Amino acid sequence: MEIYKKFEELRLVPVVVIENIDNAIPLAKTLLDVNLPIIEITFRTDVAARCISLIKKNFPEMVIGAGTVLKIEQVKAAMNAGSMFIVTPGFNPTIINYCVENRIPIIPGLNIPTFIEWGLEKGLTHFKFYPADISGGTKMLKILSGPYPKAKFMPTGGINNESLLKYLKLKNVFACGGSWIVKKELISTKNFDEIKHRVNKALSLIKSNLS
Ligand code: 3PG
Repeated sequence: MEIYKKFEELRLVPVVVIENIDNAIPLAKTLLDVNLPIIEITFRTDVAARCISLIKKNFPEMVIGAGTVLKIEQVKAAMNAGSMFIVTPGFNPTIINYCVENRIPIIPGLNIPTFIEWGLEKGLTHFKFYPADISGGTKMLKILSGPYPKAKFMPTGGINNESLLKYLKLKNVFACGGSWIVKKELISTKNFDEIKHRVNKALSLIKSNLS
């Protein structure tokens, strides 16, 4: 699917928690200003769907999706709001089946071989490796490339500037997700300059070491 190409191209996915809807537009603008036109808005707050819809309307060029999706109602709300992809923390068969049946791009979370096999059987190839850091990190991903050459991962959970490149250098990693560049507190205190600074730093690390 086209959407996965976007992830491969951009490599870094900011996972955000927006508590106040007024922060949605300035946050999206901040990310666009630093050339990171992608955002995963988590359903950890009640305003998630409204934030997706607002950003979609104002910045149609943004690659926008929903994270921490735990229920089918949230999938529906996210897609109605204009979400382009769904990310789940765990391997939830009910949500996965619904997305596969409705041709909704889904990146389900997992950290064990069993779920990779279940995912591959459903025709999925792109997974969120979560929580990456404490699930064996790059060592585990290298091992998983042996039996599952078709599986690609987006490690998320505990990633920072120190570990980012180690993950992105792996052939079976298509992008890295994380909140360290867009911490919840930075959004709620409207510290968009610091977000800009953090994204720039991560992007320049990628640019100078991986391209
Ligand atoms: C997620 O929902 O994907 C994680 O909370 C992001 O993990 P991080 O906060 O450790 O980056």
